[in-house]
Amino acid sequence: MTTAVVIGAGGGIGAALVAAILASGRYAHVHALARDPVASGGVLVGGTLDVTDEDSIAAAAGAIATPIDLLLVATGILHEGGRMPERALRELDGAALARIFAINTIGPALVLKHFTPRLAKDRRAVAATLSARVGSISDNRTGGWYGYRASKAALNMIVKSAAIELARARPEAICVALHPGTVDTALSKPFQPRVPKEKLFSPELAARQLLDVVDGLGTADTGRVFAWDGREIAP
Ligand SMILES: NC(=O)c1ccc[n+]([C@@H]2O[C@H](COP(=O)([O-])OP(=O)(O)OC[C@H]3O[C@@H](n4cnc5c(N)ncnc54)[C@H](OP(=O)(O)O)[C@@H]3O)[C@@H](O)[C@H]2O)c1
Repeated sequence: MTTAVVIGAGGGIGAALVAAILASGRYAHVHALARDPVASGGVLVGGTLDVTDEDSIAAAAGAIATPIDLLLVATGILHEGGRMPERALRELDGAALARIFAINTIGPALVLKHFTPRLAKDRRAVAATLSARVGSISDNRTGGWYGYRASKAALNMIVKSAAIELARARPEAICVALHPGTVDTALSKPFQPRVPKEKLFSPELAARQLLDVVDGLGTADTGRVFAWDGREIAP
């Protein structure tokens, strides 16, 4: 019996991941967790979770009875309520920075805290968190997007530390961060005009590509960041 969990199942990529996982027919239980409840049916079990509310994370993790084979965290924000990513230091706002870190870094960290103890122990299990190429410090050539870049760089560090810790108790567990490419969702909408058509993936294609990357991961890959094409992204 195998179990998959998708957190952020109401988002563009999250919903497509749930659909692709269901279509694969590989899982006996597929838990789809979102702020707004997802309808259950067949192997699909809907539940609620807000990454800024640790009690909701703990409750959602506690409600999963079977060992988890695949955990996908697909939550995140780039812009919110009309506030766009910062282009210059003068645009930094403490409350906005705290909010983006709460959702993009602290939220997934707390998800790893509560869900990784429930990963399958006796077989391969994968915990993958959606990050972004712009979280790479060495790849930052244009600057800007202070909060988003920094929150994803910090997320990558959380993933690395979690991978080291997990390897001690669960040598077959793999904990990674994934960059989905530029995907046609609400998150990328304001920036799509400058993206060449062939570089803008549909959520369905992005989900298939991400699941292919997950399938190809081995224990030597734990703690690392991979793009949609399976290539590693340098820290
Ligand atoms: N789209 C891209 O081009 C792109 C590129 C690089 C990386 N990514 C990353 O991919 C991930 C998914 O993005 P997306 O494109 O699918 O964006 P999206 O369609 O805007 O979905 C974002 C998801 O985050 C969830 N979320 C936001 N705040 C939350 C909270 N407090 N608690 C729980 N869930 C919360 C949203 O939940 P609700 O449905 O409840 O609002 C939604 O499910 C993000 O981590 C993003 O940084 C995306």
